[in-house]
Amino acid sequence: MNIGLLGLGTIGTGAYELINTGCCRFPSERAVITKILDKDPTKKAENAEIVTDPGAILDDDSIGMVVALCGGHDFEYGMIKKALEKGKHVVTANKAVIGAHFEELCDLAEKNGVMLRYEASVGGGIPIIKGLEQQLRLNEIDEIRGILNGTTNYILTKMTQNGQDFGEALKDAQAIGFAEADPSADIGGGDVSRKIAILSSLAYGGMIEDEKIKKRGLEDVRACDIFETGRMGYQIKHLGQSVDRDGVVSAVVEPVLFKKSNPMSGVVNEYNLVSIHGDVIDELQFYGKGAGRAATANAIVQDVLDILDAVDNGVTIPQPVFDKKLELNGNEEFSGEYYIRIDLGHDKNSLSDVLERVEDVCGLKHVNTADGKVFIFTENVKSTDFDKLAESFHAGPGELFYARICD
Ligand code: HSE
Repeated sequence: MNIGLLGLGTIGTGAYELINTGCCRFPSERAVITKILDKDPTKKAENAEIVTDPGAILDDDSIGMVVALCGGHDFEYGMIKKALEKGKHVVTANKAVIGAHFEELCDLAEKNGVMLRYEASVGGGIPIIKGLEQQLRLNEIDEIRGILNGTTNYILTKMTQNGQDFGEALKDAQAIGFAEADPSADIGGGDVSRKIAILSSLAYGGMIEDEKIKKRGLEDVRACDIFETGRMGYQIKHLGQSVDRDGVVSAVVEPVLFKKSNPMSGVVNEYNLVSIHGDVIDELQFYGKGAGRAATANAIVQDVLDILDAVDNGVTIPQPVFDKKLELNGNEEFSGEYYIRIDLGHDKNSLSDVLERVEDVCGLKHVNTADGKVFIFTENVKSTDFDKLAESFHAGPGELFYARICD
């Protein structure tokens, strides 16, 4: 089968190398990338033609599959739609497109008798989509949670292990190719909310829109938070989580704390860990590299191979069904003890006022003060009540950081 590749960036180059250069066990007699669409016509790919006109791929009847790896939203969404309409199978890693148009694109693939696969859109190299699809044959899945962003996990690791500052660690993550071109989605939680939306829609059988998921990023975390929580036996992580209670779904993306002995705390650098809970299997975890060229390209090419196998066997990989009307109710289902760090000032957030207000809402478990800041560990509280408390503080960027403690 001839393949048209969209985008020869970090991940596109990885996929090209695996398929076309004989560097791995890919069966070159079964498929080859014949054309690559890229804005830069001077890019070189030894045995494929570089094209700048999308029509060169979309209108080429010899191309049976499109591997869409441009990133971004508008252009790639249009290309994926047109490719499916033209009867070409599509493999993509684009979580912005899948997150926003999951049902529509699956329907379009079905209608045109082709396959759409998107394994690398969640968890980089981890086979979580396939794993989830497999478990759904027997299980009702009611919870998903995971470290799902390689960039933020890399940043937290470097801040913890080397005392590196946030900006420096982010620059390194960009240089290695973990972060998106615009890393604000990585840091602000948008990337994880798309991934949680895709997994939740698939697992719970109805569409969950990622923009409606409550999210907090890592912008306010400081070295003192790493130090103080570490001293108390915790590790800060950035978590995506959703639970389905009979069609009512709570979903959140936020910084959390895990005890250092929790497996989530052992996930370092660009690795991801996704845990699902099913009624038959109980808890099942998927672990591996969540970002980076080789791991992500590996997931993409596994999708390519699955499509080739299905075509050879005269079968179709079924698209997911989204026939449930799910209600998204914010973070209503979550609760826990919390860690808070707040900067104290003369005219705002006096120590006595902060302690009194926290005690009223959650109860105080442990308090420490240092360098004009108070560090508090609370008793158990509903997340919705805690959010109201956090909103009531007068705090500018970086002056307040809080995180729920997870088991
Ligand atoms: N920027 C993403 C991450 C890439 O850091 O996880 C993989 O989705």
